[in-house]
Formats: sequence, C-alpha cells, structure tokens
Amino acid sequence: MAMKLEVVENGAALASAAAAHFLRLGQDAVASRGVFRVALAGGETPRAAYGRIADAWSGTPEGALAWEKVHLFWGDERMVPPGDPRSNFGMALGALISRVPVPEENVHPIPTDSADPGRAATRYEETLRRAFGLGGPGLGGPTPGAMPRFDLVLLGMGADGHTASLFPGSPALGETSRLVTAARHPETGEPRVTLTLPVLNDAAALIVLVSGESKASTLERGVRGVGRQAGTAPLPIERLNPTTGTLLWLADESAAPWARSARGG
Ligand code: 6PG
Repeated sequence: MAMKLEVVENGAALASAAAAHFLRLGQDAVASRGVFRVALAGGETPRAAYGRIADAWSGTPEGALAWEKVHLFWGDERMVPPGDPRSNFGMALGALISRVPVPEENVHPIPTDSADPGRAATRYEETLRRAFGLGGPGLGGPTPGAMPRFDLVLLGMGADGHTASLFPGSPALGETSRLVTAARHPETGEPRVTLTLPVLNDAAALIVLVSGESKASTLERGVRGVGRQAGTAPLPIERLNPTTGTLLWLADESAAPWARSARGG
C-alpha cells in the first residue's frame, strides 16, 4: 500500500489541496479510462473542498473537467431526506452539484426514501453493480468477487477513528461480502448506509480529509500507529489498506502537530 501524509496550514489550504487532488485524479481518469467515478464524503470537512472544486474545475492545466464523464457516488449517507441539513447528498448538492454541469444521470445518491436502511443498502449495491458493469442478481448474474473500483474515494474521519459510517465495534466493519451495508451511529442511533471496507480498500485512490486538533491523536494513530493498544481492535481508519491503490492522509496542521517535528517544523 502506498500511504502518504500531506499537511497543509489550515482549513482553507486543506480545501484547496483536496480540490487540486480531485481535479488531477479526475483529469487522469478521464484521459486514461474515459470516466471518473468518485465516492464523496459527508460531514463538514469536505464542504469547503467541494466549493473549491466548483470554483476551479474549468481552469485545470488540462482544461475544463469533462463533467459528462464524471459519476458521483457517496461513501455513506444518513437516512434523512435530501433537504435535511444532515444529508450528505444535500450538502454536496449545495456546495458542488448545483454549481457544475454534471448530468443528473451521473449523480448516484444513496436512496433514503426507504425506512429500512438494509433495503437502501441493497438498492445502492444494485446501483453500484449496474454503474460499474459488475452484473449481479437480476443484472445478468453476479460476477463472483467483482468489485466496483472507484477512481477516488473521499473520506473524512471522526475523533473516534470512524470513517464513512464504519464506526468502532460496528458489525458493518466485519462485512466482507456485501458492497454496501446498513449501519448505526453509536451515540445517536441514527440509521446510516455505508460502503464496506472491501470497497474502500479496492479504490485506486483513497483521500482522507482531517481537520482540527480534536482528531490529532487519532490521526497519529492511523498514520503512525502511535497509541495503538496491544490486543485492542484496530480503529476503522486503521483498516484502510488499499490493495493496489494509494492512501493519502490530507490534514491541516491542527490535526497533525505531531508531524511538525518530522517536517523539521
Ligand atoms: C458522515 C461522514 C463521516 C465524517 C466524519 C468527519 O456522514 O458524517 O461520512 O465519516 O466524514 O464524521 O466529519 P466532519 O468532517 O464533520 O468532522
């Protein structure tokens, strides 16, 4: 696994750096494969990055990103309507999708109109299989072991070490055959739907956006293994281990003060 830590000064620099990586990976994917399939992160950290992408997409070194070749998915979703302020789709719609010419048919939100997150997970799995041409039940028969290889999965990280909606101790962490599964926020009990670890780890590129001093010790554990207690279960972020892809931890200085010495700061 190719893992890298990139530390930038502050939240604004984090948003700009994330946007630059998104656009570079997008142009590379479109140039080499004719399509860029990316899973977006939820939460607050990526909001500013989505805004920077919307600002910068028409002026990359390769010219404008061809949005008709970009397909947007989500790494996880809260089971709330799109208009709910907690909606990951709703956040991306306001910050990015409403500001760029991505065709509606290229936007693949996780369905939240069902009261049953398990049903929503099954429906989203079918969406992935169809979008990635994997086949599957009702889709020409499953291709055993076929995985949707995202060109990029954007992730955030909680101070507890969760990512997407894979929370410490959650049964969802142990899901290795499904592409998408139901989950539940450990404190609020809020129902969620999330991509599973095998899908995250099959991505060509994982970028984890981390901002804020509250996440500093957890990030150091994820990046350097510092603080990992012998005999305790690895945190979800410690389970990020792309099989052939790359993992970039993109953090601001408040989330990575421990890296300053390594940078000679
Ligand atoms: C979500 C995200 C979740 C998020 C982290 C960090 O739906 O909330 O998928 O994994 O990325 O909780 O959230 P913040 O960026 O708001 O700190």
